[in-house]
Amino acid sequence: MNFAEITTTAVVGSGYMGGGIAQVLALAGYPVVLGDVDAATAEAARARLVDQAASFEAQGLMPAGAGNTIAGNLRAAPGIEEAVQSADYIVEAVPEQRNLKFDVLTRISFRAPATAIIGSNTSAIPISELATVVDRPERFLGVHWMNPAPFVPCVELIAGAATAPETVDTAEQLILRVGKAPARVADTPGFVANRLQFALYKEAVRIMEEGTATASQIDDVVSNSFGFRLALFGPFAIGDMAGLDVYQGAYDTLGQAYGERFDAPAALRDTVAAGNLGLKSGRGFLDIDPGRREELLAYRDHAYARLSALRAELGKAPGL
Ligand SMILES: NC(=O)c1ccc[n+]([C@@H]2O[C@H](COP(=O)([O-])OP(=O)(O)OC[C@H]3O[C@@H](n4cnc5c(N)ncnc54)[C@H](O)[C@@H]3O)[C@@H](O)[C@H]2O)c1
Repeated sequence: MNFAEITTTAVVGSGYMGGGIAQVLALAGYPVVLGDVDAATAEAARARLVDQAASFEAQGLMPAGAGNTIAGNLRAAPGIEEAVQSADYIVEAVPEQRNLKFDVLTRISFRAPATAIIGSNTSAIPISELATVVDRPERFLGVHWMNPAPFVPCVELIAGAATAPETVDTAEQLILRVGKAPARVADTPGFVANRLQFALYKEAVRIMEEGTATASQIDDVVSNSFGFRLALFGPFAIGDMAGLDVYQGAYDTLGQAYGERFDAPAALRDTVAAGNLGLKSGRGFLDIDPGRREELLAYRDHAYARLSALRAELGKAPGL
């Protein structure tokens, strides 16, 4: 299926994620048919998504006319089969239970048109594993959106062993077309975003369990320190700006205190040993042009100051 051939889409599992994805597809002009456990659930989801879109528009979070565009493009089907039978691009967003996904993906793939692309929104289950139940698995891949889908840019694209390269190309074009930021990643459990997110979460819970800080104190430290930076840069850019020798020194202390899981990674040691310490020596893990160092640091400072101003304007999150 070529990108240009996609005219109709379907979302199976019209809950939190499926609903948000449906809004994005509908806002971009694609008709979306919602399928869920029964007709009433799909219809209730449609009504909820239309109301919510009108509210997003009223708050200025979506462009003028978004509510009407989304209302005009969303339709509820009586069941999964009816939702997917004429769709060119299908989103599977049912709960994260292996057997449920196996069942739903089997039903989708045997009823959908033979060339329809099927993208699972699984958070962590390898695509090659889900593909075992999919009829014509060459048109199946992982298309992992982030929550809340209408507002978070990244969508991970994951090819399983049987996925055809053209399937990933088409999905990538679609994700770009609806205004999101596609990221191709390998088919490993948790992919990239969740593996990192859950590593951080586990360490945060450990710190709380040990009594080093309370949950709320940890959240404050994160959102006001490296989490603040992460709003604008990834860990490698931050590391290259900070200096990789500094990172290695910190790991030496952490490794002694907490053991092997905190030892400096081999690639970090090798990079430092080669004299590549990040921006200050010209090169780190990223190939940042040393000639643009001052420009990058000026951008960083400007961006952090603007982010601080935005946070002050927004005020503290209610209830936290
Ligand atoms: N919630 C998140 O933050 C998040 C983020 C990224 C990815 N995901 C993934 O997205 C998927 C959906 O998660 P969610 O949070 O939207 O769940 P959810 O519970 O909000 O929605 C799931 C929807 O699937 C429907 N459903 C259940 N069984 C079904 C069936 N047999 N046939 C058709 N529909 C069925 C439910 O009625 C519901 O509408 C999961 O794979 C999850 O891991 C979730």
